[in-house]
Amino acid sequence: MSKTYTVAVLGAGKRGKMHAKLFSRDPRFRLVGLCDTDTERLNAAAAESGNPPLYTDAEKMLSETSPDVFCFCTPPALRKGLFKLGIDHNVKLIALEKPLSTNFNEAREIYDMAGNAGIKFCVSHQQKYGDHYQAVKKIVDSGKLGRIQTIYAHVWGWYFHMVTHVMDYIRMYNGNDDALWVSGTIHGRGKLEDNHPSPEYAGGFIQFKNGVRGIVECGELSPDVPESEYPWHKGRFVVQGTKGFAEVIIGAGWRACTEADGYQEGPGCFNYETDGARYIADIALWLDGVKEHPCNGEDTFKGFQLAMALLRSAVERRIVRLPLENGENEVDAMKRVLPK
Ligand SMILES: NC(=O)c1ccc[n+]([C@@H]2O[C@H](COP(=O)([O-])OP(=O)(O)OC[C@H]3O[C@@H](n4cnc5c(N)ncnc54)[C@H](O)[C@@H]3O)[C@@H](O)[C@H]2O)c1
Repeated sequence: MSKTYTVAVLGAGKRGKMHAKLFSRDPRFRLVGLCDTDTERLNAAAAESGNPPLYTDAEKMLSETSPDVFCFCTPPALRKGLFKLGIDHNVKLIALEKPLSTNFNEAREIYDMAGNAGIKFCVSHQQKYGDHYQAVKKIVDSGKLGRIQTIYAHVWGWYFHMVTHVMDYIRMYNGNDDALWVSGTIHGRGKLEDNHPSPEYAGGFIQFKNGVRGIVECGELSPDVPESEYPWHKGRFVVQGTKGFAEVIIGAGWRACTEADGYQEGPGCFNYETDGARYIADIALWLDGVKEHPCNGEDTFKGFQLAMALLRSAVERRIVRLPLENGENEVDAMKRVLPK
């Protein structure tokens, strides 16, 4: 009989509600607590997740429930304190929402806190569980694209909403290879005061150690993807090699053309429920020790570094080499340099 893990979820907004629902449906987990300061949201989320014990105070929830897993789904500014709270309550794993942070120094602190405490953490880059993402991964892994030359990703969503998804999936298609350097450009102050404080548009290049070039565009000047109508689905990941290409369209399936198999296409669409259920199932397997979670903290931190290196490169007008060192808060730096 498989072990059941206890989980406490904080945040009953869009994402916390989804996580609570999915944990409550997974037989490997028992939802022992759900917390939000907004009781209306809390009650609505509880109704969809089996009416777990409810809390309005995170500390109280963790003290009373001592969960194996602490999952928190809060806006990006609320990360380090909650992470520390989970560690202080001896949880085995922290599952948090993306982005890991909005600045590199804090991300490193979180990463180091987890390492020093010896706990696992994972970040919800769950889109990659979609059938279309996996179909492309299968083609990439088969070797039928020949030598991979470029991985081009573009999304309409703004930077701190989307870029860590983007970097994570580029890395996935490139075998999680490390990068040598990043070059970036940014434009527009319009979203700097958002709770995902971002340039309106960012573009950049990543040089990976294995020779693959990553190309990234994020924000409103990125190319349209007419196959998807919903703005958050207007994104594409294209892996191009010497013997073909394969691409994911976030909201509209996949297609490929290879020397070996000719033209192929298939369905798939970003889906919070089905992608999230797979992400959560893998948390149990990681805790069992069966396999490492594909959204593990180590890879998340490396993807996050690429995103921050791109911003630093734009601010400093030079390529930025990896691994990244601590430096000026990237959002402050953008506020300083982006023209008014
Ligand atoms: N993985 C994905 O595909 C995906 C998609 C959308 C959003 N997100 C990310 O999810 C995160 C959360 O997004 P959201 O839309 O659910 O946010 P939200 O603001 O709607 O919800 C956050 C909730 O947390 C509660 N909260 C905050 N601090 C609290 C505290 N200390 N104690 C108790 N409750 C507290 C708030 O009251 C709120 O209800 C963001 O970082 C966002 O980028 C991820």
